[in-house]
Amino acid sequence: MDALKKAAALISGSEKIVAFTGAGISVESGIPPFRGENGLWSRFDPSFLELSFFYSNPGESWKLIRDIFYEYFGKAKPNEAHYFLAKLEENGKLIGVITQNIDNLHQEAGSKKVVEYHGNSKYLVCTKCGERYDFTPKIIEKIPPLCEKCKGVLKPDFIFFGEGIPLNAIAETERLLNEGDLLMVIGTTGEVYPAGLIPVEAKKKGMAIIEINPETSKVTHFADVFLRMKATFAAKALEKELGL
Ligand code: APR
Repeated sequence: MDALKKAAALISGSEKIVAFTGAGISVESGIPPFRGENGLWSRFDPSFLELSFFYSNPGESWKLIRDIFYEYFGKAKPNEAHYFLAKLEENGKLIGVITQNIDNLHQEAGSKKVVEYHGNSKYLVCTKCGERYDFTPKIIEKIPPLCEKCKGVLKPDFIFFGEGIPLNAIAETERLLNEGDLLMVIGTTGEVYPAGLIPVEAKKKGMAIIEINPETSKVTHFADVFLRMKATFAAKALEKELGL
């Protein structure tokens, strides 16, 4: 049976699908990945996203954060792959998306249960008093943005290198992996930890794994089905195969 038919059979046979997504699912929405072709880390030094660097050089760090992450904010739109996962959830087949992405595109596509493993660029938090702010372009006209209440430096509410994963994201991920029976891994190198342990954990728990990626990754060698395709191509092909 060819890979696409095998993937469709696994999807139609599951009511407890969990999706695990990385930057690759948003590439066709115009957001560059971090690694591989046109990767951000081949153009920028990721050390500006080290937590220690941010605290000691907030202005410098914020200059790159604004240019790299907020450049696409509000412009990028969900693509067929984001909508495909939202449709599987609506049809009662998918119980949650665990995403490493901070672009909010799963939520904008209509996904309800989204675990933001690396946080979300939609919010800023004061590093001094903890006050939270919704992101607006105005808020970063002056950088580093300061808290209206205490003048503390605001930080995007996404995870920097060296920063812990939100506890609720860890708990929700554990719950989904305990309940799920099929993991769809879409658009991740699987190289960053602890997120990269999620497919390994899923395999240990006996979940079947479908990987969608035009390149191989750290997951490929233990995936049950590897669709060597771009996310939107695979989404359209699977929707056709499933008659969705
Ligand atoms: N469709 C599907 N996958 C794609 C596409 C596409 N159109 N284009 C690229 N990819 C794949 C690449 O082959 C690669 O495997 O997406 C993956 C992108 O890898 P990374 O850029 O490393 O993204 P990700 O795995 O999400 O990175 C994890 O690293 O820098 C940190 O916090 C950041 O969340 C990020 C984490």
